[in-house]
Amino acid sequence: MPLPRLNSLRLPWPTNWSELFGREAPLILEIGFGKGQFLQYLSRRFPEANIIGLEISNRCLVMAENAIERLGMSNVRVIHSTAETALHHLFEPATISQIHINFPDPWFKERHSKRRLMQRDTLDVMVNRLEPGGLFYLATDILAYAEMSAELLAATPGLDNLLPDRWAHSMPDRVVTKYEAAAAREGRDRYYFAYRRNSLPAPDVPVIKELEMPHVVFSGPLTLNEIQAAFTPWESSTGEAVLHFIDCYRGRDSLLFETYVNEPTLEQRIALILRVRRGGDFSLMVSPLGHPRATAGVHAAVAGLMRWLMSLHPDIKLIDSKVRNLAPEQ
Ligand SMILES: C[S@@+](CC[C@H](N)C(=O)[O-])C[C@H]1O[C@@H](n2cnc3c(N)ncnc32)[C@H](O)[C@@H]1O
Repeated sequence: MPLPRLNSLRLPWPTNWSELFGREAPLILEIGFGKGQFLQYLSRRFPEANIIGLEISNRCLVMAENAIERLGMSNVRVIHSTAETALHHLFEPATISQIHINFPDPWFKERHSKRRLMQRDTLDVMVNRLEPGGLFYLATDILAYAEMSAELLAATPGLDNLLPDRWAHSMPDRVVTKYEAAAAREGRDRYYFAYRRNSLPAPDVPVIKELEMPHVVFSGPLTLNEIQAAFTPWESSTGEAVLHFIDCYRGRDSLLFETYVNEPTLEQRIALILRVRRGGDFSLMVSPLGHPRATAGVHAAVAGLMRWLMSLHPDIKLIDSKVRNLAPEQ
């Protein structure tokens, strides 16, 4: 029986890994496993560990799921997730015994630099999630990426370099990944990093947990048709998220606002529903379509839409609010 597809937007925040694997064991994480050769190597090399692979490519996930079944890799689970979402939402501090990153996408252009795995915020959460003595490994075949990573790692007091130099050009006993093989074939140098979590305090990066689903009740003299006619798409940026209110669709007794919520640790495309209640009041809530997670950004989206609604007519009054930073007037 194939295992169900795991996804960081469906897993509990944080996830109980012992329950998911059915046993208590050290956690090893590989970020961006690609064709999955290294996951297979980890599975063989550390049979006593629970091994988690993260990928954003569906093709890679399907290949890995097939390999897990075919090779009976019962100590491995793969998750559809960016590293950033998984590290911030799924893992508790000081719980991971090894993190491996092999040949990460370089994102050369400066305007794409926020997508690089090796950057301050992501390295800070990795240091926070590593247990004392936990290991961090990185390999790349791009000199500029190696230099940038070396600089970041040197400025990371919570990690100690295990190598005599800032990097090594080979790592004996290592299985060769697809990108590594290509680099070797094409005569490019490889740069390997190995660090250990020391006992200095880690940066404080708490697990981002789920909030209560936001919900507003309000009264006002406008009709759904009038509200829909007033809608034009807009974008706004709050402390929590970048919000795009994309479109407004009419239902029988409701309006559905297609909304994009971009937070530093995850992106969600959600539907906000404005419904007429019995008695003529309105409720504004998050549709369960697509299984959204109640984050600070989703609260900001409901608050943003509600403030826009209140701007349409002075007699729109909040009756009840289960939304952060949005309270009815006393
Ligand atoms: C250049 S490939 C390297 C694949 C493999 N590690 C190897 O050495 O052959 C980078 C991989 O990282 C994945 N990836 C990119 N950004 C990611 C992110 N933010 N979180 C998780 N995986 C990511 C990509 O889908 C891709 O499979």
